[in-house]
Amino acid sequence: MTTAVDWDALRDAAVQAAAKAYAPYSGLQVGAAALTDSGEVVVGCNVENGSYGLTLCAECTMAGQLRLSGAQRFVAVACRSGTGQLLMPCGRCRQLLHELGGPDCLLDTPRGVLDMRQVLPDAFEL
Ligand code: THU
Repeated sequence: MTTAVDWDALRDAAVQAAAKAYAPYSGLQVGAAALTDSGEVVVGCNVENGSYGLTLCAECTMAGQLRLSGAQRFVAVACRSGTGQLLMPCGRCRQLLHELGGPDCLLDTPRGVLDMRQVLPDAFEL
């Protein structure tokens, strides 16, 4: 299915999702929002815990929402802080987006909208 990407709506959804974050350790609220191949929007927020290193990034909780929604893959993704700042996914989350979105998945970046090949060159593939 090809669905036009409403980037403004995705960015807004990411900021809204960030407001739900549980981030008492870093103090950084992160939200992620994605258009799926079903045409729906799924969101995620970071969920920290006292182990620090085992924090769940916003993209991780969004990945769970993708699977729970029944959709197959991410089509377009935006990540924002609670104050609306554009945030780039960390390396682990780029791998996650690549696997669950494929190389054609689009990401909102400071350099404009790019695909996963551009933000994760030579990705690990099984
Ligand atoms: N974080 C994300 O939610 N996504 C990323 O891609 C990188 C980092 C979160 C984890 C932690 O709760 C906070 O940002 C500070 O590192």
